[in-house]
Amino acid sequence: MMISNNLFSLESKTALVTGGSTGLGLMATAGLAAAGAKVFIVSRKLENCEKAANKINNCNFKGQVVPFKGDLSSEAGISNIVNELHKKNSELHVLVNNAGRTWGSNFGSFPYDAWEKVLNLNVSALFHLTQKLVPLLAASAERDSPTRVINIGSVMGEVPMGDGAYSYAASKSAVHHITKILAKELAEKNITVNALSPGPFQSNMTDFAIGDPKGSTRVSKRVPLKRIGQTEDIAASIQFLCGRGGSYITGAILPVSGGINVSTGPSIFGED
Ligand SMILES: NC(=O)c1ccc[n+]([C@@H]2O[C@H](COP(=O)([O-])OP(=O)(O)OC[C@H]3O[C@@H](n4cnc5c(N)ncnc54)[C@H](OP(=O)(O)O)[C@@H]3O)[C@@H](O)[C@H]2O)c1
Repeated sequence: MMISNNLFSLESKTALVTGGSTGLGLMATAGLAAAGAKVFIVSRKLENCEKAANKINNCNFKGQVVPFKGDLSSEAGISNIVNELHKKNSELHVLVNNAGRTWGSNFGSFPYDAWEKVLNLNVSALFHLTQKLVPLLAASAERDSPTRVINIGSVMGEVPMGDGAYSYAASKSAVHHITKILAKELAEKNITVNALSPGPFQSNMTDFAIGDPKGSTRVSKRVPLKRIGQTEDIAASIQFLCGRGGSYITGAILPVSGGINVSTGPSIFGED
């Protein structure tokens, strides 16, 4: 039996990672560049994108990172990002919809605004950016070499664990659902659509809880695999879903949460 010894290489592939300058986006970008891809990263703060690009470009990876500035929070902002990408590159093989935001508050005082802002970026922007980039993704897609969309969901969209982030958890459930809908719809264009469902990872978003060793130790104890997620956990998941070896997988919600996704509490019939 013959198999390729290069199942997860991304040499000669081009990717776009939204919010690729920090946190999980930076981890995904590192994974793509390490596998050989040319990775465009976009976010509102150009300086952060440039810093991230320099950091990864100094790692001697086969791929490279190209930063640019963009804001996904409006229709015009999304169009600008698409136009900018068209100007910079004529091909796209991988789109990682990573940019996201959250809001935490107790139930009684959860603000009205925190639904609109969170759903706008986490769901609407993800949908519309994908919609506008499908022609570019489809142009490079072949039956034996599909192009890829990876959406960053969350374990909070999988299990009923709001933790005060009501609109966030609901938005991530929506991300998982739209992932499956688009997987079904875009298969005929040879585009796969999958999502990661991460648990706790170090980032600006989670700094309040796991930004220091004490918080990180406290949260690690609650994860079945007893640790916070690491860069390689995201990088490897992305390489898996984007490499040739992942080309027959679509509509998957990949749990990268150290087992929180199957943490259903104690046995029902067991001893106390
Ligand atoms: N950290 C975790 O434990 C965890 C777990 C599960 C899922 N996630 C998901 O991972 C993704 C990344 O979050 P993170 O935890 O890495 O937090 P983060 O460091 O705060 O990353 C958010 C990224 O999104 C960008 N962004 C925010 N608003 C934007 C906009 N309007 N237009 C363009 N870019 C925008 C930010 O850059 P600018 O500020 O420069 O725009 C930043 O790079 C999110 O979808 C989040 O829900 C995180």
